[in-house]
Parts: sequence; structure tokens; C-alpha cells
Amino acid sequence: MSEAVTAAFDAGAGRYDLLVGLNPGYHDHLDAAARALRQGVRPGASLVDLGCGSGASTAALLRAFGDVEVLGMDASAGMLAQARAKRWPAGVEFRHGLAGSLAPTLTALVGGVLAAYLFRNVPESQRDAALADAFAALEPGGALVVLEYSVAGSRRAAWTWRGVCRCVILPLATLTGGNRGLYEYLERSVLDFDTVPGFCDRLVAAGFTGVESRTVSGWQRGILHVIRARKPLSGQTPPGEAAGTPDPRTQS
Ligand SMILES: C[S@@+](CC[C@H](N)C(=O)[O-])C[C@H]1O[C@@H](n2cnc3c(N)ncnc32)[C@H](O)[C@@H]1O
Repeated sequence: MSEAVTAAFDAGAGRYDLLVGLNPGYHDHLDAAARALRQGVRPGASLVDLGCGSGASTAALLRAFGDVEVLGMDASAGMLAQARAKRWPAGVEFRHGLAGSLAPTLTALVGGVLAAYLFRNVPESQRDAALADAFAALEPGGALVVLEYSVAGSRRAAWTWRGVCRCVILPLATLTGGNRGLYEYLERSVLDFDTVPGFCDRLVAAGFTGVESRTVSGWQRGILHVIRARKPLSGQTPPGEAAGTPDPRTQS
């Protein structure tokens, strides 16, 4: 993430929970992503919440999995401070770090990685390396779930997204004293992010199999997506040769 983006998240950290609380469905969508991860992870396995922010996605993991070890990792010290200020069970830990630097820091491979609203913030030039790192962090059979906005490739989705940003999100950010720059960045980062099939291709190239995506219901249909992928059970499938991978272009 660029220093400017880190600075924007640091500056917006104090109002982050308030603003996402005004987003109808924000926590429900985190819960849906966490449940999608639960379906792909063996019981008892530990988890990583990559780009954990203020801990909203970490809390969703706890709701979905119950008693579980979670490592939350984030590049913004301000967002991590918000997360650490909350009460967490003993198995939850937070660490400062960039996506792409996870695997070498782990003492054991993990069963699941959730990346909620993270990957559009990872610079395009670092996205493949961050996915390769998540792949390396997972035990064989482990799962990655990505919850992310993507509107590229759909004019309707892009126009809806622009309209909601200009008419709802930016005015609300201003009214509630949030960091306007962060929400201007939010609009741009979504418009500029990969298409869903393009992101799924990155997953396959990183070695993931069973890549599947679905969009959410409600006004974010076609805008917000849950993408799940698995590290193959046996051996390391060579990147780009993920046999039997369903066509990720098919969305349900
Ligand atoms: C939109 S917030 C989402 C936070 C949380 N996952 C949630 O669902 O509420 C994105 C978070 O990703 C973090 N982030 C952005 N780019 C990152 C990167 N390259 N490495 C690690 N964290 C990053 C930001 O600091 C921010 O806390």
C-alpha cells in the first residue's frame, strides 16, 4: 500500500467503525464471507484476517467460527490501534505488516485466510505477490476468501457505485467528520480494481484451485463479491496449471 493510502487509513481510523456502521449490510456481508471461509476450513485450524483494519472482519470470523485462533494483520498503525482497543478472546492477536509479508513470519501454516476489502488497496504491481504469499501461508487444503468491490467490466455497476459515492458516502463522511480523502480514495480504488474474472485469473496463476465467486444481494449486487479459492490438498499445483478449476467467470 502506498504511504498516502496508509496515511489516509491512519487519519480515518477513529471514525471508521462509525462510518461502516452506517453502511447497511456491512457486517452482514462480513459474516457471509466468514461463513464462506468456514465451509472451506478444517475444524480447529487457525486463521489470518489479512487487512484486518479496526477488527470488524476479525469479529465476523469469531462469530462464524466460535473459539478459534486469529492473527489480524494490517499495514495501518491507526487501524490496528482501533482493533487492539477492543476486547478479544485469548486466541486473537494483531500484527503490523503489509500483505505479501505474511508467510515468512508464521511459525505454522494456517487453515484459512480472510481478506475483506483489502485487495483493491494493494497496488496492482504487488497484488500477485500478495496472493502468492497468502497461498504460501495456507496449509494444503486451506482456503482463501476475498470480499471485495469490483465494478470494472460492468457499466451499470460502475455508475451505481459512482452515484452512491457522490450522493451518499461522501456527504455522510463529511457530516460525521470522517476523513473525506479516505472516501474519495474509496471511490477511485473500486473503479480502478480488477474485474472479478481478472482477479480469479490471478488466483489460478498463484496456484489456487476451486476458484468460485458470487455477488451479494441488495443494492451492492454486481458491485460486492465473495471469492473463494483453495490451496490444493496434494503437493503444490504449479501456478497457472490448476486442473479442474471451475470457470471463475461464472458468477452465481
Ligand atoms: C477497507 S479496510 C477493511 C478492514 C477490515 N478488513 C474490515 O472488513 O472492516 C482495508 C484495510 O486494509 C489495510 N491495508 C490496505 N492495504 C494493505 C496492505 N498492502 N497490506 C496490509 N494492509 C493493508 C488498510 O490499512 C485497512 O485497514
